[in-house]
Amino acid sequence: MSAPSVALPAWAVVTPARGAHIARVEALVARWAAELGVSAVEAERWRRAAQLHDALRDAPAEVLARYAPQGSWPVNLWHGPAASAAAERNGETDRGVLDAVRYHSVGHAGWDEAGRMLFLADYLEPGRSHDRPALDALAARVPGEPDAVLREVTARRIAWLAHHAKPIGKDTWEFWNSLVAGDSSSSR
Ligand SMILES: [Fe+2]
Repeated sequence: MSAPSVALPAWAVVTPARGAHIARVEALVARWAAELGVSAVEAERWRRAAQLHDALRDAPAEVLARYAPQGSWPVNLWHGPAASAAAERNGETDRGVLDAVRYHSVGHAGWDEAGRMLFLADYLEPGRSHDRPALDALAARVPGEPDAVLREVTARRIAWLAHHAKPIGKDTWEFWNSLVAGDSSSSR
């Protein structure tokens, strides 16, 4: 079976393996868009976010810094802001798509559906082999209960960061708090 192909922007810097990941993420958001019956315009927004999100994932730090210097962010998180800046410079005007790409590694409280679906697909796409049955079950639930799955995926990602003694940034906490805001089941 040939590797899935994906429409990458001309400025992309990706390995073949990365390109295959991007194609799987795009296929997953397209599947959810079809299952949810969203408009063609909305489905296209999700697909553009997927195509763009890792387009600079394999670019060297100096290229990333040229697009969008990131100050205090660790260098492995620069590719999202850099790809967002590159996309904007090359004609992308949809703020939701740009924010989906910019914050895809960390989460963002201000996301619309493009950011939320990209975040889910990036984590649940079928090329990620660890704990595959659980990820497949989560992916299957997305069209029916996207909010619940988004909370579960975000909790898993935060737990991973904590378990591996990684810093958890402000964007991620604000995103988490936005997902549980209004939940009155807290026993506090
Ligand atoms: Fe990705």
